[in-house]
Amino acid sequence: MAIIIEPFRIKSVEPLTFTTRPQREQILKEAKNNLFLIKAEHVLIDLLTDSGTSAMSAKQWAGIMVGDESYAGSQSFYRFQEVAKKITGYKNIIPTHQGRAAEKIIFSILGGKGKTFVSNTFFDTTRGNIEYSGAEALDFLTEEGKIPQHIAPFKGNMDTVALEAFIKNRGAENIPMCVMTITNNSGGGQPVSMQNLRETAAICRKYGIRFFIDACRFAENAYFIKKREKGFENKSVLAISQEIFSLADGCTMSAKKDALVNIGGFLAINDDALALESKNLLIITEGFPTYGGLAGRDLEAMAQGLEEVLDEEYLKYRLRSIEYMGEKLSAAGVPMILPTGGHAIYLDAKAFLPQIPASEMPGVALANALYLEGGIRGVEIGSLMFGKYDENGDHIAPPMELVRLAIPRRVYTQSHIDYVCEIIIEVFRKREQYSGYKITYESPLLRHFTAHLE
Ligand code: F0G
Repeated sequence: MAIIIEPFRIKSVEPLTFTTRPQREQILKEAKNNLFLIKAEHVLIDLLTDSGTSAMSAKQWAGIMVGDESYAGSQSFYRFQEVAKKITGYKNIIPTHQGRAAEKIIFSILGGKGKTFVSNTFFDTTRGNIEYSGAEALDFLTEEGKIPQHIAPFKGNMDTVALEAFIKNRGAENIPMCVMTITNNSGGGQPVSMQNLRETAAICRKYGIRFFIDACRFAENAYFIKKREKGFENKSVLAISQEIFSLADGCTMSAKKDALVNIGGFLAINDDALALESKNLLIITEGFPTYGGLAGRDLEAMAQGLEEVLDEEYLKYRLRSIEYMGEKLSAAGVPMILPTGGHAIYLDAKAFLPQIPASEMPGVALANALYLEGGIRGVEIGSLMFGKYDENGDHIAPPMELVRLAIPRRVYTQSHIDYVCEIIIEVFRKREQYSGYKITYESPLLRHFTAHLE
């Protein structure tokens, strides 16, 4: 394959800070061995998340200057609304300050005790907002999506057979909504096929259940469909995206991913009555419906970002850069979730550091080793994030021990990625020398953010 280059040149730069190994040892020790507690300036390559970390384009920055800050009826809102409507086709576009704010609104209206929401896989904040309303959130991920090294084109798909059986058993009247997360972040950034979206939509229609898209990474998913699903080779990513959205009744969106901005989101709904209720709640929680918790300039940047993310030269480079990283690491034998997804590499820490039992958090050991070795920050998704205790205080491990290296959009170049691969391979070569961690302090909820370890 001919080399695929970054489809941009750089107009504004941010310097990286270099630290020495002894400095990083000291920094990590002072941060109680928790990468969330170190200062970002002490990180060389920050792969903690792809959310809100995009580099904006010159046109987005120009939009920041022309943003209309009127409280009501801002021109920037109308520009944003036009672009969001063009892509999604939904009648009501409601801006929010980020994705979880849209989730909070819709699930506090539709949720409540005795209700069940279903999904291919709910992202943590989505699940959190559903459970906070008193309702339950259940995942119906296809079986092949659960096997890390199994190669399949659409490992984010819904298990439609299990979904329909559950609906019959639970009763559609108890299920206010089915959510398809594209791409499936928690399952490795894996895409969902158009066929699976169509089948899920048909089931929802048959039983009268609302169907929504968690659209954070819709453009990456649409490009996977173009590349992997028969019949879509010659369709534009815009047309594929429009078809995806046309199958559903609405969406929640974190613009911090595929709208290429540092803050923003929206809720989009066809049903006018539900939209009106959402706007009323928006007014008391986020702001007036023509700004929804954002500045006018943010709406302008979001509108421009939504246009730019559909550029297929950009998407080709985006997905190729993740795949390139996966190929390099696989060639060196590094274990990870395969095929690589759209926004991140998920290293399999259990296979990487088999000498460390789950109770000693191999994911933390690996993430910390990458920091110590090369100043790289990833995030553990394993026993620290999701582990629980049984009644005897013994550790209950989640099914996988992963380290996610999420790639910010348009931020790092191929040489940064080559450097990251070099460090990972170096750590892999020395893998026998690493040992585990134990927790010395933890908070009752979301302990990974603040835990102390040694
Ligand atoms: N849905 C998905 C699939 C997500 O990945 C996220 C955020 C959200 C909803 C919530 O959006 O952050 O704007 O409130 N994911 C980030 C991540 C935090 O690092 O994967 P938000």
